[in-house]
Amino acid sequence: MKLFIDTADLNEIKEIASWGILDGVTTNPTLLAKCGRSFQEVVDEIFTLVDGPISLEVVSEKAEEMVVEAKQIISKIPQKYRKNIAIKIPMNPEGLKAVKRLCKEGVKTNVTLIFSANQALLAAKAGATFVSPFIGRLDDNGQEGMQLIEEIMEIFCNYDIPTEVIVASIRHPIHVIESARLGADIATVPPEILRKMVKHPLTDAGIKSFLKDWEKIKK
Ligand code: G3P
Repeated sequence: MKLFIDTADLNEIKEIASWGILDGVTTNPTLLAKCGRSFQEVVDEIFTLVDGPISLEVVSEKAEEMVVEAKQIISKIPQKYRKNIAIKIPMNPEGLKAVKRLCKEGVKTNVTLIFSANQALLAAKAGATFVSPFIGRLDDNGQEGMQLIEEIMEIFCNYDIPTEVIVASIRHPIHVIESARLGADIATVPPEILRKMVKHPLTDAGIKSFLKDWEKIKK
């Protein structure tokens, strides 16, 4: 399973990319607003940090405007990084129309705010490169988010649908394990969860005791 980082925090992206485990980055307007720098400034740097799909979201509401906005975003990214751009499009009829258009022009898309298997199927039919089901928000709403991933994976496997499933809105490390067990293509994980994934108290205790014992014999 590929691991993307779900943040626009450049320090976190830089640090966690240095672990050698990142395959891509997802952002959204909320995550970008949190980092207090301009959209372009942040985006320009992200492309230099991770060589993999970088999702950037449009905020227009009409299909035509989404397509124009997507092209504006792409035009401001240096040519050598453009292969990594995935335009994030919201799931609704206007979004589907935009995906269809962008797909025809060879632009990668990530259809976001997916909360049902039908929405995932429609996005895939329109030509989405990725779909992003939001499992944490479903859990918050009293529905089993992981069940949605199971349904989407089953449907996409039944028909060999090439659209990749990005498990999004991840709230804890178990969500990542369950995503991998279900064969999801990608999990996009907030930095604080990636930090939890790397830790185990027995690892820390083991390192401490090995170092302590080494002190006794090193001379
Ligand atoms: O990638 C989408 C994801 O960031 C949404 O997460 O925590 O706002 O539900 P959350």
